Amino acid sequence: MKNRLINNLLVTGGCGFIGSNFIRYLLEESDFSGRIINVDKITYAGNPENLREIDSQFQGRYFFEKADICDPGRLAEIFKTYEIDAICHFAAESHVDRSILHPDSFIQTNIVGTFHLLELAKRNAEKLALFHHVGTDEVFGSLGETGYFTEETAYKPNSPYSASKASSDHLARAYHKTYDLPVTISNCSNNYGPYQFPEKLIPLIVLNALEGKPLPVYGDGLHVRDWLYVRDHCAAIWLIMNRGVLGETYNVGGDNEVKNIKIVETICDLLDKTVEKPSKLESRRELITYVKDRPGHDRRYAIDFSKLKKELGWVPEESCESGIEKTIQWYLDHREWVERVRSGEYQAWVKKQYG
Ligand code: NAD
Ligand code: TYD
Repeated sequence: MKNRLINNLLVTGGCGFIGSNFIRYLLEESDFSGRIINVDKITYAGNPENLREIDSQFQGRYFFEKADICDPGRLAEIFKTYEIDAICHFAAESHVDRSILHPDSFIQTNIVGTFHLLELAKRNAEKLALFHHVGTDEVFGSLGETGYFTEETAYKPNSPYSASKASSDHLARAYHKTYDLPVTISNCSNNYGPYQFPEKLIPLIVLNALEGKPLPVYGDGLHVRDWLYVRDHCAAIWLIMNRGVLGETYNVGGDNEVKNIKIVETICDLLDKTVEKPSKLESRRELITYVKDRPGHDRRYAIDFSKLKKELGWVPEESCESGIEKTIQWYLDHREWVERVRSGEYQAWVKKQYG
């Protein structure tokens, strides 16, 4: 099977966690030889510093445009200027807890923004090889003790975040069915790894545990997520973009179900082994603090990715142990990044640089 021909790839949300890892993966590790145009609004979760070396090392192949996907005029200009022939759409509001408190921006970016992008793609359909939509497994809702999400599982989103992502999946699918737009969709489980904003479970626990702060565990801590190292997700997306069947969706997962409390304990134990404990603590596990549960908290996610494995030959490479160790080491080595992201200091730099 031959790869799809992609020359000028528009990546939306490329300054965020997965988007920035994806751009690194494409430019540093994959066979992609074209140009990447990264369009990002730079919300609190986006940081162009995530790609600083890429910006200097790949001049002529990497371009950054600060823009909102909800601004169709600006998107159209970018499309024309760079002769875009493929899209990988990551841009989204991505944090469930924020969606519970302030759903508005989730509706705007995840639904309306995706609609604008699809409309633009439709208007440029004759030049477009692919629109890849990056989705989440959270659209399927919650599993009980047993079973897996397959591509056939009915959508049952439980949070404003997952409902907005479900809506964007449906729009992408509908644009394929109705307008024959060349769409592929992936639905992936929880990612972890470098550059994840420290509001999500793994980086939050690593940093709090380092600093001797309480480690908040929602409810009874027995909720299950299927964790996937971010590089494995990036490799899966690139494979689907090259070889996936148009109009199809592919589940991506880590085959790695872990209870939240186990993740938190593992991080505590690994840090105890390598980094001096905060004073008065025998073990960082003493910092674990059970807090009020998240409303509508999905109990268990588990992905059946046999379609992706069977049809395209993808399997995750990173084990959970090595992935968590690498991630902890990355946060230890990037304290300056953490401080700048947490204080919001980088936003001032962004304003000066890009207006
Ligand atoms: P993130 O929050 O780290 O990054 C999102 C990026 O999108 C940021 O750079 C942000 O500035 C940008 N953005 C937000 N609104 C925008 C707008 N209106 N216009 C342009 N850019 C905008 O998110 P992430 O964890 O990297 O997730 C990326 C995608 O992958 C999302 O679509 C998410 O739903 C999906 N996903 C995430 C996970 C996960 O575990 N993180 C799992 C499966 C799927
Ligand atoms: P999160 O990283 O927010 O991802 P998602 O909600 O998209 O799965 O949360 C992962 C799991 O960890 C989820 O079950 C909620 C739980 N959690 C906590 O127990 N404490 C926390 O402080 C956070 C942020 C999450």
